[in-house]
Amino acid sequence: MNTQRRASNGKVIGLATAGAVGGFLFGFDSSVVNGAVDPIEKQFDLDPTLTGLAVASALIGCAIGAYFAGRIADRYGRIPAMVIGAILFLVSSIGSGLAFSVWDLIGWRLVGGLGIGLASVIAPTYIAEISPARLRGRLASLQQLAIVTGIFAALLSDALFANAAGGAGEPFWLSWEAWRWMFLVCAVPAIVYGGIALTLPESPRYLLLKERDTDARDVLERIGGTHDPDEAIAEIKADIAKDKQNEATATLKGAALGLKPIVWVGIALSVFQQFVGINVIFYYSTTLWKSVGFDESASLTISVFTSVTNIVVTLVAIALVDRIGRRILLLIGSVGMTVSLATMAIAFSQAEIVKDAPVLPDAWGPIALVAANVFVISFGVSWGPVVWVLLGEIFPTKIRARALGVAAAAQWIANFAITVSFPQLAGISLVLTYGLYALFAALSFVFVFTFIPETKGVSLEEAGRLVGGRIKRAPVKVPTE
Ligand code: GLC
Repeated sequence: MNTQRRASNGKVIGLATAGAVGGFLFGFDSSVVNGAVDPIEKQFDLDPTLTGLAVASALIGCAIGAYFAGRIADRYGRIPAMVIGAILFLVSSIGSGLAFSVWDLIGWRLVGGLGIGLASVIAPTYIAEISPARLRGRLASLQQLAIVTGIFAALLSDALFANAAGGAGEPFWLSWEAWRWMFLVCAVPAIVYGGIALTLPESPRYLLLKERDTDARDVLERIGGTHDPDEAIAEIKADIAKDKQNEATATLKGAALGLKPIVWVGIALSVFQQFVGINVIFYYSTTLWKSVGFDESASLTISVFTSVTNIVVTLVAIALVDRIGRRILLLIGSVGMTVSLATMAIAFSQAEIVKDAPVLPDAWGPIALVAANVFVISFGVSWGPVVWVLLGEIFPTKIRARALGVAAAAQWIANFAITVSFPQLAGISLVLTYGLYALFAALSFVFVFTFIPETKGVSLEEAGRLVGGRIKRAPVKVPTE
């Protein structure tokens, strides 16, 4: 590699990493509540419905935030959208930390959710728009690396505060309970994120969309990554012009239920990513491991271990995504998830009910533990990062931010549906629950096989055309206008 290309790689990697900091806040803010749930329940004397709402209000905020993120990013720019996200994170962490009633807390968690939703759209949009084709998969996967690192940091910081105070509900610094500090500490990454965002250049594709050609050329020259800025500008402008003439790509609307087929592909990718039940592992793992026969503290340790495994496999995905490609990773992941989830369903079919809870007989406990980790590995190397990569690259520039917003909103709604339905479903039968997730994993294979072409190494504009072409050629009839 020549020195010029290495220097330009360095710059783009720096920018993508900075853009991905939003993912860290996404992971941190969405999981920080885990360690705080029990003391909040006690302190505010909550019934299960209010406890559920305190946890889920953030997810509702996420869906709303994601939906509006695209509009904000298209109107004001990618960078102002990041700054708005940082402000929402900041006020939500202070508000939640100082909450005086459960409704106060629910309100502030909702505000934090708006920030998470915004960050979940802006990071993949920005990274895809500044990355050169050959590095795009790896750089876009940094978002997932940031998310899983955020989840890990939140779990660790919750544990540290709870330990230091001698319990999550015990008073700590300034006599405020430890759970308050769990939220308050989020203010630090929020300020860092806002500060970093202010130093980043605006996305050249956004600038061209706004016909600010000189500024766009400036940024492209500054960040390098493309051999010839003029060539890149010409390609992006041709794509935008084509979108303008061609109503088929210029708007989100126009086919089934008012949305374009390409937007439906984004929604389906998002929904499959959630319907395999990954967040059940991250949100309810302690309960799961207890039912496999581990005690409370061992279950907590396993949860932290699982989040570390998730970080490690994301690194593997980063190494592979631009080499073997997105499609093959997704297909391998779907197979791994189907087999491991089906194994979990079989293991739970062997459970005996002891004091109203399922307990697995000897050999089945370790089998379920291994299967759950194989599931996290299969997800982490494929659907976790690759969906975010694809959401950044499958939409035309004209609708990218808005379409990503719709797909990410669908992802948050699907996340919400899985999260709130798990306790009821598990109450009916864990075999049914994991069987359903296994079914969705199997369907995800069929979906990718039919609709998702390989997009590694091609320009962002070409990636959109490839996926669009695949929808038209797919054997299943998808309505077009
Ligand atoms: C993906 C999902 C997110 C999940 C995470 C776990 O980022 O979008 O919902 O928590 O993976 O690795």
